[in-house]
Amino acid sequence: MTISLSKDEERDFDREIRPLAADPRCQRMKRFIQHGRITTYEHSMNVAREAFRLNREWHAGADERRLITAAFLHDYFLYDWHTHGDRLHGYHHPRIAAENAGRDFRVSARTQKIIRSHMWPLTLFHVPTSREAWLVTLADKICSARETLFERGSGAGHR
Ligand SMILES: [Fe+2]
Ligand SMILES: [Fe+2]
Repeated sequence: MTISLSKDEERDFDREIRPLAADPRCQRMKRFIQHGRITTYEHSMNVAREAFRLNREWHAGADERRLITAAFLHDYFLYDWHTHGDRLHGYHHPRIAAENAGRDFRVSARTQKIIRSHMWPLTLFHVPTSREAWLVTLADKICSARETLFERGSGAGHR
């Protein structure tokens, strides 16, 4: 399911996401399944698009570069969580993703904090504290529900 953006939105979104999405380190997310037939890469792209779209639609005033960066890297934990053997993956992966994003892309502490809080309220003590953080946590929940309900990977048919 593609989150539809206007032509102008598509151009602005693309400008921000392109360098990140093309980075070989981010391309590794294509190897891991998030849920159903959706890879972590596709899921991250969906969350980035949805967070960007919501920010524009609601005139929420989030910083778009920071929003897109955090949204695209929010699940940058780089393992297959189904076989990773961590039963508390849900609790642990926001910290791992934030650390990986800091290590590989030198993202700011603010961006790491957005990634860190995306599972709230599961991670009770990491409450979203910025516009960007609220948009990412919300977009993640919307996209996860949508992806699970419709289970459509790229190119997969839909009956
Ligand atoms: Fe996550
Ligand atoms: Fe996610």
